[in-house]
Amino acid sequence: MDILTFLGLLSSLIGSGASVQSDYLKFPQGFSIGTASSSYQVEGAWNASDKGVSVWDWFTHEKNEFIIDGSNGDVACDTYHKYKEDVQIMKNIGLKHYRFSLSWTRILPNGFPNKISQDGLQYYKDLIDELRSNGIEPFVTIYHWDHPEFMNRFGSWTNALMVKWFAEYARVVFRELGPRVKFWTTINEPNNYCEQSSGGKSQAPGMDLAFSGSYLCLHNLLKAHARAYHIYNEEFRATQNGKIGIVMPCRHNFPKYENDTEAARIAFEFDCGWAANPIFSKNGDYPAVMKQRIKENSQLEGLPFSRLPEFSPYWINLIRGSSDYFGLNHYTSKMVESVPRKRGTPWYQESGVRVFVNESWPESPTNWLRVVPEGLGGVLRDVKEAYGNPPVYILENGVSSYPGVADYNRIEFLYGYMKSMLLAMNRDGCNVKVYTVWSLLDNFEWDRGYTERFGLIEVDFTHPNRTRTPRLSTGWLKKIIAKGRLIAFNNTELSVNYRAFNMCTGN
Ligand SMILES: *[C@@H]1O[C@H](CO)[C@@H](O)[C@H](O)[C@H]1NC(C)=O
Ligand SMILES: *[C@@H]1O[C@H](CO)[C@@H](O)[C@H](O)[C@H]1NC(C)=O
Ligand SMILES: *[C@@H]1O[C@H](CO)[C@@H](O)[C@H](O)[C@H]1NC(C)=O
Ligand SMILES: *[C@@H]1O[C@H](CO)[C@@H](O)[C@H](O)[C@H]1NC(C)=O
Ligand SMILES: *[C@@H]1O[C@H](CO)[C@@H](O)[C@H](O)[C@H]1NC(C)=O
Repeated sequence: MDILTFLGLLSSLIGSGASVQSDYLKFPQGFSIGTASSSYQVEGAWNASDKGVSVWDWFTHEKNEFIIDGSNGDVACDTYHKYKEDVQIMKNIGLKHYRFSLSWTRILPNGFPNKISQDGLQYYKDLIDELRSNGIEPFVTIYHWDHPEFMNRFGSWTNALMVKWFAEYARVVFRELGPRVKFWTTINEPNNYCEQSSGGKSQAPGMDLAFSGSYLCLHNLLKAHARAYHIYNEEFRATQNGKIGIVMPCRHNFPKYENDTEAARIAFEFDCGWAANPIFSKNGDYPAVMKQRIKENSQLEGLPFSRLPEFSPYWINLIRGSSDYFGLNHYTSKMVESVPRKRGTPWYQESGVRVFVNESWPESPTNWLRVVPEGLGGVLRDVKEAYGNPPVYILENGVSSYPGVADYNRIEFLYGYMKSMLLAMNRDGCNVKVYTVWSLLDNFEWDRGYTERFGLIEVDFTHPNRTRTPRLSTGWLKKIIAKGRLIAFNNTELSVNYRAFNMCTGN
């Protein structure tokens, strides 16, 4: 879009803001705004020191036909060497926390605690100390999809042994890094990850097991999460006194027909509830509608069991309540419609709900990411209603931008989504404590390689130094953090800044 169209859009955003009570746009006392990354997407140094090979190292080296530009994370943003520069950038913006993940094979080269890499641990200790000494709180994700490669040859997360292997890794991490960390996340987006890595082939290891690969994968991930939570609770919480939880990717669902009151609820259960219900609901276990419909479909296929595995009462109890907060990653929404079913026929796609995008929603440079700001408020109200208003940490929200540093579409996106969040909080009582922009830097965007740019900071991947250039959105973010409220941006000021910015970066 050209600048004039864009400025027009901004005016309409500001216009619609005028009807909102101005108190609604304040960030409450203690509210934390930060940014996020994950180990494989940014660190590089894939073979530094004694680091072991991860499933993503293997996938990008051996199966790079699945990566759109054939690229890999061997060097990525080289944050392994450049983290001090990145911390200064965050400090300059005024960001209050930084969410990053640990590479399992950097800490345990064999995957097991019989060999611990002192160099690997030292890297994370240095990063954490650098953050803390600059007033930025580390939010540490233990697992963001890069498990040891050899575990792939044992079936990755379809193998129940992974539960124990993950728990032992987590215990090492709590013991070694826990004295410096107050906020833990066990696992990033278990449900999306399982669909794409076990059920599909767009995430390593790309097993493409349509039958029930993603159900098995999530079953084990939830058990692994609960084991790690209880290890923290029983062995470390008393001395380390931190919080620990898990992060769910949840979308909001808009019904196609107003009279179709069930579609959105069922779509929520099959998307968010699949992983969240066992942990956050009062009774635990998978959502009843999911158990019922998958069982019926399995029966129609002539199977003597449901393709959705069952939790024993022991596991239901262990998993239920195993999170101190509701971690939420949210990007986009969907339209939903119930598909009529005749007796004796299978439920359409297990859920019985057709999910599609509304073509009138604006596009972004990422094809799955339609811009639907009101969906963030929608999903926050969904979570409040489904799980009794738990404390919510938004741990990812953001959009990719067009080439260059003038990321107007990102400012517009963040403004719209944060406004929707603030209304859900200040008007509707949703208990949100943390908001995190994905991402600090442009990075290795999984199967999209380096073709999609989610960074507040542009990274030049052709330069050996991986030069960082802050985008326009950083100036706006700095301002709203300093003021403690969401401010409608001033067009004149924005274009003045834009020109000044271009002069000093030479663009
Ligand atoms: C690490 O990998 C790079 C390729 O990314 C290679 O050039 C280098 O020789 C490797 N280093 C070691 C120590 O194996
Ligand atoms: C798409 O969204 C628009 C605006 O919210 C709405 O009027 C329209 O009915 C939606 N389309 C469908 C197919 O529901
Ligand atoms: C819901 O509304 C749609 C379109 O307006 C209509 O076709 C359908 O029959 C209605 N369904 C029910 C259960 O009322
Ligand atoms: C890369 O960065 C280093 C350290 O800041 C600097 O000395 C060097 O000149 C840079 N290299 C290039 C090609 O810009
Ligand atoms: C917008 O910014 C310009 C330049 O800084 C300033 O002159 C003007 O008063 C501002 N307008 C509003 C409505 O704040």
